[in-house]
Amino acid sequence: MLDAIRRLFEADSLSPHGICLLWRPELIWTHAISDALIGTAYFSIPVALTYFVSKRPDVVFTWVFWAFATFILACGTTHYFSIWTLWFPDYGAEALIKVLTAAASVATAIALWPLLPKAVAVPSPAQLRAANAILEQRIRERDEALAALRRETAERLKAEEMLRHAQKMEALGHLTGGIAHDFNNLLTVVLGNLESIAKRTEGQGERLHRAVHNARTGAERAALLTKQLLAFGRKQPLHPIDLAVSEIVQKVAHLLDRTLGNHIALRTELAPNAWTAYVDQNELESALLNLAVNARDAMPKGGTLTIRTRNARASAGSAASGTGPSREFVLVEVTDTGEGMTEEVKSRAFEPFFTTKPVGQGSGLGLSQVHGFVTQSGGEVEIESELGEGATVRLYLPRAD
Ligand SMILES: Nc1ncnc2c1ncn2[C@@H]1O[C@H](COP(=O)(O)OP(=O)(O)OP(=O)(O)O)[C@@H](O)[C@H]1O
Ligand SMILES: [Mg+2]
Repeated sequence: MLDAIRRLFEADSLSPHGICLLWRPELIWTHAISDALIGTAYFSIPVALTYFVSKRPDVVFTWVFWAFATFILACGTTHYFSIWTLWFPDYGAEALIKVLTAAASVATAIALWPLLPKAVAVPSPAQLRAANAILEQRIRERDEALAALRRETAERLKAEEMLRHAQKMEALGHLTGGIAHDFNNLLTVVLGNLESIAKRTEGQGERLHRAVHNARTGAERAALLTKQLLAFGRKQPLHPIDLAVSEIVQKVAHLLDRTLGNHIALRTELAPNAWTAYVDQNELESALLNLAVNARDAMPKGGTLTIRTRNARASAGSAASGTGPSREFVLVEVTDTGEGMTEEVKSRAFEPFFTTKPVGQGSGLGLSQVHGFVTQSGGEVEIESELGEGATVRLYLPRAD
């Protein structure tokens, strides 16, 4: 065995490959250069494969890359050896390298075949892209569903809040209306008797006359207050008539022009084709005055007060929120460019006696009257306002039949 190996490396009796080519330079150099190029190319490929595998740790079957690298390195070496044997007859060493190359090639080839089905099953970039697209679509759908859920929850919370608010106003209305009604009856008795005292004590001294006069003034103011409370409690006797709302607005605007002051500009935008509403004229005028006074108070540094009228189709139940069947209203919109309201003030503004004005300047009954009058008339009222952004109060007055 040892002898056979020794003989394999014995080159004494052999001649270099160049002799077979009769040392013809064109043959010698064509072989030498081609083998050098092939060998160099073969050596560069494992470097590229190693770089690829080191940069892509996610690549599967990396051992195949290493097997290829070994096999290609071996092939490259055989080519370099072919150059060597042109001049030196080391055919034994060349044969040994070929044996190693054969081993690496056969092993790689054998390992490759069973791998093929698995390699085919690995998803291609196109398949991965398609799967990705499906996944993205699912995520989008889930996000949309989540957003819809969030919207629905927000709407439900808003509806619940509105219901709570409506129930609170209803309860307050009952309470206020009940008290005001009884109080009003008592005041009627007081006023009636004061009148008869006034008649009987006429000419009986200045002091008595002044005392009776003061008592009557106080009782009349109390009666006015109870009237506003009755309005809020929707117990105010109303006398609705078919009313051209724009004309009433014009009349009130005429009155206001002189009372608002120079620092406030009054504008009206009245729909020429506005429907007639079915409401109480006096109460509507009071409501407009209350709104205008509020607007004036909200614009101490001046601004613009705009009163608009237009026809509106809105959902009953809540003209603003849009639930329930559609109804027709004449909409009166009073907008100012004043200081606006906080959420807290906005949500409580209609409550009787709610005021943010200093003691003695506001009774907190203006918007209560507006609320009571409009709702008792079968309409709706809403406030839109943000702090520093002015305020808009909308009266949805029922259209006359
Ligand atoms: N146009 C508005 N801009 C800003 N805040 C307003 C406006 N209108 C009403 N408010 C707020 O709502 C509160 C209640 O208004 P409401 O008219 O009921 O009572 P008041 O004006 O305070 O008193 P009253 O009208 O009885 O003299 C006001 O105190 C104010 O804080
Ligand atoms: Mg007011």
